[in-house]
Amino acid sequence: MGAANDAPVALVTGGARRVGRAIVLALAKAGFRVVVHYRESREDAAITVRDVEAAGGKALALRADLLRMTEIEGLFGSVAEACGRLDLLVNSASAFYATPLGSVLEPQWDELVGTNLKAPFFCAQLAAPLLVASGRGQIVNVLDTAATRPFPAYLPYSVAKAGLLALTHGLARALAPKVRVNAVAPGPVLLPEEFDEAQRRRAVDATLLKRAGTPEDVARTVVFLATGPDYLTGAVIPVDGGRSIA
Ligand SMILES: NC(=O)c1ccc[n+]([C@@H]2O[C@H](COP(=O)([O-])OP(=O)(O)OC[C@H]3O[C@@H](n4cnc5c(N)ncnc54)[C@H](OP(=O)(O)O)[C@@H]3O)[C@@H](O)[C@H]2O)c1
Repeated sequence: MGAANDAPVALVTGGARRVGRAIVLALAKAGFRVVVHYRESREDAAITVRDVEAAGGKALALRADLLRMTEIEGLFGSVAEACGRLDLLVNSASAFYATPLGSVLEPQWDELVGTNLKAPFFCAQLAAPLLVASGRGQIVNVLDTAATRPFPAYLPYSVAKAGLLALTHGLARALAPKVRVNAVAPGPVLLPEEFDEAQRRRAVDATLLKRAGTPEDVARTVVFLATGPDYLTGAVIPVDGGRSIA
């Protein structure tokens, strides 16, 4: 389905590549005009916008370093100016790397907690007036199995995702009844490019389904939350092959 000029607008942070790109493509197909936020992946963002347009949709790429408050503010100013509205915020941008206990440096903590928790909070705060004005505004946060089962070698990332889970519930309460706030919690859907074979096998073995998922599994769940029953708020849907209960 192509998006009309008055179609609802979705902003997907970290939307240029990998899981964020799949979410962008799926939301565009579902009729949203999509703002593809990126930081370093300018070329990938341009390709994602082109792919949306080639499929008959509408998209726009906007850059911001979400570790910088002024850039977050600039991003939402640009969304309001370029689109005049915002109906859905998907907080997907994230830093993710191992930080074994005993070796964690403060800048790593700041980056992992900054991208996975602080930025989603301030994005939500800045999005809120636009989402309220929409009349059917929504936020979907992208968590991780680590939010409820912390990965020992990834503690700053895990506690940031646990905070994002609490933020999902807190925002659902703070923004009710006007704005709904839900989350998806992926398991291994697209492992980091630098993972070796043993790390890949361990991640897949930890699931009940004994296989990796796909970015499209996450994207379809985001579309379900965005376009499905509107009696869901504060809900968290695991898309993890059963990893969280294994
Ligand atoms: N992949 C999985 O299997 C998996 C599993 C569980 C949970 N998740 C969650 O799903 C989401 C997407 O996963 P992914 O693997 O696609 O993520 P990713 O590739 O690790 O990162 C997504 C994007 O985040 C952006 N980003 C990082 N730091 C940023 C900053 N300071 N400012 C602005 N943007 C920044 C990057 O944009 P640029 O490239 O433009 O710099 C990057 O492309 C994440 O929230 C992740 O935690 C993924």
